[in-house]
Amino acid sequence: MVTSALPYANGPIHIGHLVEYIQTDIWVRFLKMRGHTCYYVCADDAHGTPIMLRAQQEDITPEALIEKIGRQHKIDFADFSIAFDHFHSTHSEENRALSCMIYERLRDAGHINKRTIKQAYDPEKEMFLPDRFIRGECPKCGAADQYGDSCEECGAAYSPTELVNPVSAISGATPVEKESEHYFFKLADFENMLRDWTRAGHLQKEVANKLDEWFETGLQEWDISRDEPYFGFEIPDAPGKYFYVWLDAPIGYLASMKYLCAQSGLDFNNFIKEDSDIEMHHFIGKDIVYFHALFWPAMLKGSGLRTPTSVHTHGFLTVNGVKMSKARGTFIKARTYLEHLDPEYLRYYFAAKLGCGIDDIDLNMEDFLHRVNSDLVGKVVNIASRCSGFIEKRYAGKLAAEIHQPELLSEFINAGDSIASAYTGKEYSKAMREIMTLADKANQYIDDQKPWVIAKQENSDDELQAICTMGLNLFRLLIIYLKPVLPVMAEKTEQFLNVEAFSWEDSQTPLLVHEIKKFKPLMTRVEQEHIDAMIEKSKEDLTATENVSDEKNPSSGPLHDGPIADVISIGDFAKVDLRIAKIIKAKHVEGADKLLQLTLDIGGETRNVFAGIKSAYSPEDLEGRYTVMVANLAPRKMRFGVSEGMVLAAGPGGKDLYILSPDEGAIPGMKVK
Ligand code: MSP
Ligand code: ZN
Repeated sequence: MVTSALPYANGPIHIGHLVEYIQTDIWVRFLKMRGHTCYYVCADDAHGTPIMLRAQQEDITPEALIEKIGRQHKIDFADFSIAFDHFHSTHSEENRALSCMIYERLRDAGHINKRTIKQAYDPEKEMFLPDRFIRGECPKCGAADQYGDSCEECGAAYSPTELVNPVSAISGATPVEKESEHYFFKLADFENMLRDWTRAGHLQKEVANKLDEWFETGLQEWDISRDEPYFGFEIPDAPGKYFYVWLDAPIGYLASMKYLCAQSGLDFNNFIKEDSDIEMHHFIGKDIVYFHALFWPAMLKGSGLRTPTSVHTHGFLTVNGVKMSKARGTFIKARTYLEHLDPEYLRYYFAAKLGCGIDDIDLNMEDFLHRVNSDLVGKVVNIASRCSGFIEKRYAGKLAAEIHQPELLSEFINAGDSIASAYTGKEYSKAMREIMTLADKANQYIDDQKPWVIAKQENSDDELQAICTMGLNLFRLLIIYLKPVLPVMAEKTEQFLNVEAFSWEDSQTPLLVHEIKKFKPLMTRVEQEHIDAMIEKSKEDLTATENVSDEKNPSSGPLHDGPIADVISIGDFAKVDLRIAKIIKAKHVEGADKLLQLTLDIGGETRNVFAGIKSAYSPEDLEGRYTVMVANLAPRKMRFGVSEGMVLAAGPGGKDLYILSPDEGAIPGMKVK
């Protein structure tokens, strides 16, 4: 069972999404070609506030909206040859039943807490407001009409309480604070299980490392309920409360599989039972690791179900080196791309760029044009067009009975193992490099043999047929190896060579004494003017709705920090006692690979703090420096001793971490306010 993340049903598929669906689809196609039984399931992620509000804007029901968007998504995916075995919706009976079951099991096992919290509330619309739905003047630069979490003019990040003259983006009313009871999943109950699980080979190493930081910050309770009005599933024992979209979203993977099982007579229980021997693989982007590597395995474990075999994380797409941008015309919708360019270009280009890591990948338009034209059109397709004409005209489409250069053919066959292991390990860029090296060799062979010269010699018939047969066999192997990436070109080739659908196994035997069909061009060149037109069109698409992503905000941040956390009052803020601290001693902690032990002077008092900043600082960089600490944090017992507070630092982690320092003049113990 293989999944890609479920796209939100409030916006179109764009080329950023496609990195993931293409990556997963290649993997699944490869496995199937190798003879594995493999089910690729996905669904639309249909719940949540943005979807509810967008439906209201369009004056239709949320059900009608998700139906409409779901249809578009399916067509876009199909046109990019993303071959789901089933594409479902999280707003489905299967998902309702599974979500309720998992919730009830977690509740009965004591993993759910209830408590009352305060949130921004729109008194007119009578609903609680996620940050993204509060607007006001930027507290830093004064720009009007900014989001509750960040300013698009000056880039400042802040919390909604700081906004000047805040208003609800929905009704225009001034938000008030309101209390309500929320349900929480006690993630910390699973700390030991998760520490083991995240180190047991289910994740890439860099992802597991990131998770260590989250463990060190402590696993927070996860708020899994939302008040009505909300588009989602009502919590069975809590009228008026709904499951937060992220609770039922991953369960949607199982719901989709459940539907497919019912359709195809498979036993769904085999897929989900605790001791299932079926592999379950999730492909996701790095912004949603927290949900998939912590919450999801914990939810499954806590409800007595199997956990994932692997979570495969990829990086983000940039275009021409920067984030996709509507103004630059690089926020390209799948549909806009399809109106201008061949989807297989993009499949190939992503394959040529994707490795097994979590680095971002860049779509550079110039490189795209050059790479596709030179590799696919110039190298691969060219081999077939150089050989097919002679076979067709001189030999009535018949291939010779023998291979002209058996060693060269063997070399091509033997390369299959290494290419296959690159595919298995998601090292597609390596696989593409190896295939293109073979393509160069095939072209070299034809250059050396010069069939066009031989064709003019007398009594050269056997030789010409043998050379062209050899060339076409080399071409056939390249296409077998490329088939997971280029299913359409592979299918055209199957028709041209007049054979059944290729399996990987077919690479073992050459095609001889066989009649082929007339050759038709398999792919045309990428034209600059088509790229330009696509970019222009994307600029016009400015109104394209962004996937409003208030729904990606785990408490301690995804791999990048994501939007600002929940609103707090000035009173809440005042509870945090921040003090200027002088680092009088810093040292390594034996057995801890992230922590430094700091001795802090906060004016007549010293504190012992374990800080997860070892990746960015060595002890000697720190001694004597001033920073800011949270002085009234409840002491926490850690493996290495008691930590009596925290120091403040910013950044995504690793080397990219910056402790905060006051301007000159501040002295230890001063209160920060
Ligand atoms: N609905 C959630 C996922 C729920 S899974 C139980 C969601 N949806 S999304 O539409 O925002 O993103 C779907 C997938 O596409 C995610 O894995 C996300 O990381 C990926 N991408 C979205 N934009 C992307 C890029 N620009 N680049 C690469 N992948 C990106 O998150
Ligand atoms: Zn601003």
